[in-house]
Order: sequence, then C-alpha cells, then structure tokens
Amino acid sequence: MMYKKIRKVLFQIDPEKAHSLVEFFLRYIANQPIIQDLMAKNFYYQDSMLSNKICGLDFYNPIGIGAGFDKNCTMIEGLTTLGFGYLELGTITKKPQNGNPKPRLFRHIQEESIQNAMGFNNEGSQVISSRLKKLYPFSIPLGINLGKNKEIEQKDALKDYQDVLEVFVNLGDYFVFNLSSPNTPNLRDLQNTTFVDELFSMAREKTHKPIFLKISPDMNLDSMLEVCQKAIDKNASGIIATNTTIDYSLVQSPKNIGGISGKALQEKSFEVFKVLAKAFFKKTTLISVGGISDATEAYKRLRHGASLIQLYTSFIFEGPSICKNINQNLAQMIKNDGFENISEIIGIDL
Ligand SMILES: Cc1cc2nc3c(=O)[nH]c(=O)nc-3n(C[C@H](O)[C@H](O)[C@H](O)COP(=O)(O)O)c2cc1C
Repeated sequence: MMYKKIRKVLFQIDPEKAHSLVEFFLRYIANQPIIQDLMAKNFYYQDSMLSNKICGLDFYNPIGIGAGFDKNCTMIEGLTTLGFGYLELGTITKKPQNGNPKPRLFRHIQEESIQNAMGFNNEGSQVISSRLKKLYPFSIPLGINLGKNKEIEQKDALKDYQDVLEVFVNLGDYFVFNLSSPNTPNLRDLQNTTFVDELFSMAREKTHKPIFLKISPDMNLDSMLEVCQKAIDKNASGIIATNTTIDYSLVQSPKNIGGISGKALQEKSFEVFKVLAKAFFKKTTLISVGGISDATEAYKRLRHGASLIQLYTSFIFEGPSICKNINQNLAQMIKNDGFENISEIIGIDL
C-alpha cells in the first residue's frame, strides 16, 4: 500500500534518477542497523520449506535479484534486508565504462515493463572488487555476472572474459557469462558453439565454482539448444534464461533501442524456458528470469524445472515487499499441494 504512494513519486522522476535515489537509500542503510532491523521486520521472510541446496550453495529462498540492478555491488546489505535469497551482481566489465548515451532507461507503465539500453555502465573490475572484498564471503550466495568491454573486438573477447573472471574468482559464489545483452554491439554473436566451447574450457581451468551461461530469449531455438548443450558439455553448471528481448512488438510504444523486460517478456521468457527445461532438466541447473512478479508465476517456473528464479522489473513495479509476498505464498502453495520442501516440486510438471 505504502509503496503505491512512493511509486507515484518515483515514477514522476526520470527512471535512471529514480534508480540512483533507490541506490542511495539502499547504500545508506548498510551502516544503519536500526533502519535495517526495521526493514527486515517488514520485508524479511524465512520458512525452512523454501530452503534448498543448489550447486553446493545454500539458498534460504529461491528468489534472486536479476543482474543489472546492482551493477557496482553497492547495495548488497540493503537488498539482503529486503529478503532476497541470493544476489546476482553486475554485469561487471574489466575496465570501467559509462554505457550508452542517456536517455537509455524507459518505463512502459501500462505493460508493467521496462526498456533499457544501459550498455554495461559500471565502475569496472578494480573498483568493484575492492568494494566486494570488504563483504565477501557473505550471508547469502553472491553471483557475479561478467561482461566484456564495448571496445574489445570479438577476437579478443575470450581474454577479456578471462581477465574479469580472474579478478573475481575468489570474490563470488557463482559466475555468469553474459553473452546476451542487446546493448553491447555484437555481444549476442558470441552465443555460438565455438566461443562457448572456448569460454567454458577457459573458465573450468580457473575455477571449480558454479558457472552459468545467461542467454537471450531472441535466439533461434535450435541454435539456443546447441549452444547450451556445448556449455553443458564443457562443464557449465547451468543456464540462466532469459535476458531482455528486442521483440518490440511486445509493447505499445516501444523505443527503438535496448531490450524489454517485465510483464511483456513473461510469456516469451517462459516459452524459451520450457524448451530448455524439456532438453536439459536434470542434466544441468536451470534458473528462470523474465516477467516473474508473483508467486503463481514463480511456482510455475519452479514446477517446470527452475531450481531458482530471479526478478528485476517487478521489484520496481511492486516494491520492497515483493520477496516476502512471493515467498509467503510459495510456501503456502507447496504446503497446499502436500509437499514439505521446495526441492520436491522442482520439475514436477515436466
Ligand atoms: C535496467 C536493466 C538493466 C539490466 N542490466 C543487466 C545486466 O547488466 N546484465 C544482465 O545479465 N542482465 C541485465 N538485465 C536483465 C535482467 O537481469 C533480466 O534478465 C531481465 O530484466 C528479465 O527479468 P525481469 O522481467 O524480471 O526484469 C537488466 C534489466 C534491466 C531492466
């Protein structure tokens, strides 16, 4: 209720400025135990039914913040207070970069969707890793989403991913190779079997920790399956599906840049996820992201083979109580269906 009023104000402000304001607050409360306690009382929810071990990591609930919200690792404590079960940080590139020219973040309010063309704006691996060193290891799993700098040519991409992975290899619980952002020119072209082979072979020499591939929802489904199969063959721990879409027909008044997330992406993301789950459930770990905004959708993704889920856009539309709402309802749904733990329902609809 309260968030509806706050949202009204936030939505009057330019979207990127609104994000900075939220970041300022979540950063500020890291050193404010009283406010943190108050927030935790309101937003934190724990139920042993929701806890599960995935890829050797303990998740007290299945909801993570999607990559891109905390690109610079400044909001780790604040987001944890809001009840996320894990955080995916980044995308982080080796060198700092400003991203694309503004404006590059747009709301589609009717469709409860967002369009972004940020372009991996981040402070770069050196600054961010020194920030993370002060917190890691942390109370919930931290994933690090890795990208390549814009100016790096395709032939040098592998080295760029290797360099940024090396910086964070002891500062994260899992790693994600992001080859699916629509906002770095030609990045999505790296979603091919040759590059994925080299990338995961390189990564497996560097770490035994979980490594994921994050894919786009816009790929041809056959080549998506081939690319994911290659990643799995090269010992990827799993696939994260999906990033934003460049299918601009999904919203009424699209901008002609960037990728769309939120409700408009929900169906497409789920369709892609189903194809993946049919091919790879039990062969690898699947994480579903794209348009998840309530427990019904979250439960559906879990029952269709997602071990974990993530959200970003619905956090903006629904506010700080989203994790609690989803987790509370999820626990109830699991119980109503006669199960005792979330692990029992994963993939049950396949
Ligand atoms: C403003 C914005 C920035 C994003 N930045 C990144 C990013 O840096 N790296 C990434 O892998 N995904 C990024 N994403 C994609 C999200 O992590 C997620 O895959 C996508 O938004 C679909 O989930 P949603 O519908 O719950 O938002 C971004 C999304 C938004 C809205």
